[in-house]
Parts: sequence; structure tokens; C-alpha cells
Amino acid sequence: MFAVQAHGHDIQTVEGLSHEGELAPLQACFRTHHALQCGYCTAGFLITLTDFLSHNPDPTEEEVRQALTGNLCRCTGYTNIIEAALDAAKRMRTNSEAAA
Ligand code: FES
Repeated sequence: MFAVQAHGHDIQTVEGLSHEGELAPLQACFRTHHALQCGYCTAGFLITLTDFLSHNPDPTEEEVRQALTGNLCRCTGYTNIIEAALDAAKRMRTNSEAAA
């Protein structure tokens, strides 16, 4: 995407996912599930999954895999990333139910 294409839109970066120094649930799940190694791909996975989970809070494993088809990781083999995404979805659902 060119910068001009984002004119007038909000932009979410990986730096904006945490709040007051506390990791977002998805970030925490990446840490818990060892879903990164070198970290080169991690920002892309986190941003992709943040948007995906905001639209699909209760995804199947296949839906998560489909959502990540545009992201490449040379290190992890994806299994831990998928597990982190599903765990984060579950935690976020639990948190939103507790807040209601
Ligand atoms: Fe190294 Fe994904 S963690 S490329």
C-alpha cells in the first residue's frame, strides 16, 4: 500500500497494540505459545490476526489458517502461531463476557 492510499484512514501498528505497557492478549499468547523465533514476521502476523479476530472472534483453526495465507514465517512452522491465535480468541471472548 502506498501512503497516499491511507489518507483519511486510521492506521494500526504493532506498537499500538499494547496498552500502558501491558501486552495485548494476542501478543501475550504469542509469548505463551512461543509463536515467534527471529521475530521478522511477527508484526505482520499480529496486525493481520488483530484485524481478523476483530471480525471473527470465534474462529475455527481452518479459518485462522485461511486468514494467514498472506503471511510468511520462515522459522516457526505456523503451528504455534495458530495455537496462539486460537488461545487469544478464547481469552478475548472470555474477557468481553466478563466485562458485560
Ligand atoms: Fe522468524 Fe517468523 S519468526 S520469520
